[in-house]
Amino acid sequence: MSQISLRTITKSFGETPVLNNVSLDIEEGEFVTLVGPSGCGKSTFLRILAGLEAADAGQVEIQGRDVTAIRPADRNLAMVFQSYALYPHLSVAQNIMTPLRMRDLNRLGRLPVIGPLLSRAAHRKMRDQVGEVAETLQITPLLDRKPGQLSGGQRQRVALGRAMVRQPVAFLMDEPLSNLDAALRVHMRAELSELHRRLQATFVYVTHDQAEALTMSDRMAVMMHGDILQVGPPNDIYRNPASLDVARFIGSPRINTLPGEVNGTGGLELLGVTTETRVRGLRQAVTMGVRPEHLHMRVTGRFSGTVRHRENLGSDIFVHLEVAGAPAKVVLRLAPAEAVELGLGTRVAFDFNPTDILLFDATGARLAFTHPAREVA
Ligand SMILES: Nc1ncnc2c1ncn2[C@@H]1O[C@H](COP(=O)(O)OP(=O)(O)OP(=O)(O)O)[C@@H](O)[C@H]1O
Ligand SMILES: [Mg+2]
Repeated sequence: MSQISLRTITKSFGETPVLNNVSLDIEEGEFVTLVGPSGCGKSTFLRILAGLEAADAGQVEIQGRDVTAIRPADRNLAMVFQSYALYPHLSVAQNIMTPLRMRDLNRLGRLPVIGPLLSRAAHRKMRDQVGEVAETLQITPLLDRKPGQLSGGQRQRVALGRAMVRQPVAFLMDEPLSNLDAALRVHMRAELSELHRRLQATFVYVTHDQAEALTMSDRMAVMMHGDILQVGPPNDIYRNPASLDVARFIGSPRINTLPGEVNGTGGLELLGVTTETRVRGLRQAVTMGVRPEHLHMRVTGRFSGTVRHRENLGSDIFVHLEVAGAPAKVVLRLAPAEAVELGLGTRVAFDFNPTDILLFDATGARLAFTHPAREVA
């Protein structure tokens, strides 16, 4: 049994369908990421799991219990948002402690008044819990500061601390890093992965950033237009996308796509070149996908183009080629030493290994193919 199950969730806002019969199972201790373009329904899906939004149809189960009609506070899930929503007038320690106080006071059936209602022993226990969380997040020296005296990354850690202190069944995070600058985002990705390893807790993470999904997840669910298109480990999805939409969304720079055709004998023809690749369905238009790292400059390359743009990332150079017959620029990822001579306007011959390509039919679904063992790289 999975720890969390969302079954056939359907949701519309007025006339607009937002989730179309979406299901997802999450195992205990997994880091699962919902990733997809803006507006595809990720936050809505997460909010339905949290109980902050009601589905029109479908069930939510947590640890085998149907919680579809249970209010958010009783689902024992902790939510971390993009806006950290810290109390500005409370110290870091008090911010982290707030959920514990709320829980106890809720249990006592009193109004959530903070302060003298708590016994000394209860208060000491809470301070210990806050201390432990602060140690884990390495924010102990910041406990007496107010949120206004913290950097963005530190505030993010306090928000995480506030989620951790309750020891929830799972942590739900909606774009928690998007307010941070690029360098800090990369740093926090590593911190979140490390935190996940240490806590061995379930993380359900929402992002539109495919790099975040690829770097942190055990499994990622690629969402588009209110559907989950594919679920799997990042490597599987990157190498084996089920459709052209997934192939295009995952990976940066985007996968190159070239129009092709399967001829009357099953041979794949690309930009006037008959390749060794064999496809079963004869005489159909196809799209070939090949990632920038799988295109190699070769004097004997069967394809060629003209350099129109160079992107220098220091460790890699992305060279954008104009290729006759290709609807968009073809991008090659090269090592800096390889790209030295490639000024704008240079003609470049290139090729690929037949094992490195993906083929899609006219509907965007994957096509199987065979190929001889011909090595280019
Ligand atoms: N309360 C609401 N009322 C009406 N429409 C809504 C509401 N909340 C969301 N929507 C619409 O539902 C769709 C999905 O929204 P959602 O917030 O789930 O997207 P998202 O995938 O999280 O996008 P983003 O990456 O931009 O956060 C969008 O078209 C959005 O405009
Ligand atoms: Mg969102």
